[in-house]
Amino acid sequence: MSSENKKTIFSGIQPSGRLTLGNYLGAIKNWIPLQDEYDCYFCVVDLHAITVKQEPKELRKNTLEVLATYIASGIDPKKSTLFIQSHVPTHVQGAWLLNCMTYMGELSRMTQYKDKSQKSGANIPAGLFNYPVLMASDILIYDTDLVPVGIDQKQHLELARNLAERFNNAYSPTFTVPEPHIVKASAKIMDLQEPTKKMSKSSDNPNSYILIMDEPNVIRKKISRSVTDSIGTVNYSDDQPGVKNLLNIISVFENKTTDELVDYYKDKGYKELKEDCANAIINELEPIQKRVNELLDNKKELEEIYKEGSAKAFKKSIKQVRKMHKKMGFIPN
Ligand code: TYM
Repeated sequence: MSSENKKTIFSGIQPSGRLTLGNYLGAIKNWIPLQDEYDCYFCVVDLHAITVKQEPKELRKNTLEVLATYIASGIDPKKSTLFIQSHVPTHVQGAWLLNCMTYMGELSRMTQYKDKSQKSGANIPAGLFNYPVLMASDILIYDTDLVPVGIDQKQHLELARNLAERFNNAYSPTFTVPEPHIVKASAKIMDLQEPTKKMSKSSDNPNSYILIMDEPNVIRKKISRSVTDSIGTVNYSDDQPGVKNLLNIISVFENKTTDELVDYYKDKGYKELKEDCANAIINELEPIQKRVNELLDNKKELEEIYKEGSAKAFKKSIKQVRKMHKKMGFIPN
């Protein structure tokens, strides 16, 4: 099927730090099997990253590492369009238009804004507040059908859906109302130290997350130190969030149901569960890490991929932005 007839997917990850196992399982790993059936746009959303303070040198490094991770994990630049958000100006153009249709009330209800603004002190950047509008623009300017993300992005996606409908009602049908694509077992990988919280790259405690680029001995150490409970038997239960998280991780890597795993571990202890979990993570991440390092050693290949990607992304998204301009009453140039 040519890309013209396929449905469209858009997703992205912020290069606001190094990627975690949560980003890998909740997002990237779920993107891989979608590439044949859909016209996919996978973006490194660097403009989103600056909603919190970034060190320029780190931002540059992380942006390329995220792109390299997409490719090393199995996103094929021949099938999918891979690019860097700041290279495609339509994202910001769309965001302004949508900003003027978004209500302060709906933005102030965003839970991620409430959490992050608390950490910003007295001066909360306006970008942090507006951020979901840029995300809506990312999605809508590709006339996206499906958005594969972890559960934490659902509320932001709801705004994108509302804005699509609001625009369609205010002018005339323009946007497809995008659907979330959330895979249950990996929708929310938990913090290893506080397993009732989401694993996050912005956590202050490195023992609370696994980075995709963590070395095997570091992964083993972090998993062996992960917080469990004093119950002592392996069950898949909300009363044992640490154990539940480890079971979820193994189940996704080994393609087994959590029932099968609970049965397997019924006479075994947490030590064995943790060792198996670490091994499952390492087996999958080691070859990816090797490929990420190769790609980062040869920036030319990455450069060709992101340049070609941004040209394709611009070509597709400008059509939708032009439609928005025309319907809103701007003079075409
Ligand atoms: P970000 O960069 O925080 O996370 C990127 C993706 O990883 C998922 N994720 C997780 N999934 C499961 N468990 C976790 N612990 C975990 N942590 C992160 C996120 O759900 C996400 O899918 N606003 C977005 C980036 C974005 C975007 C977009 C996504 C910007 N524009 C358009 C989709 C479409 C964000 O901050 O994701």
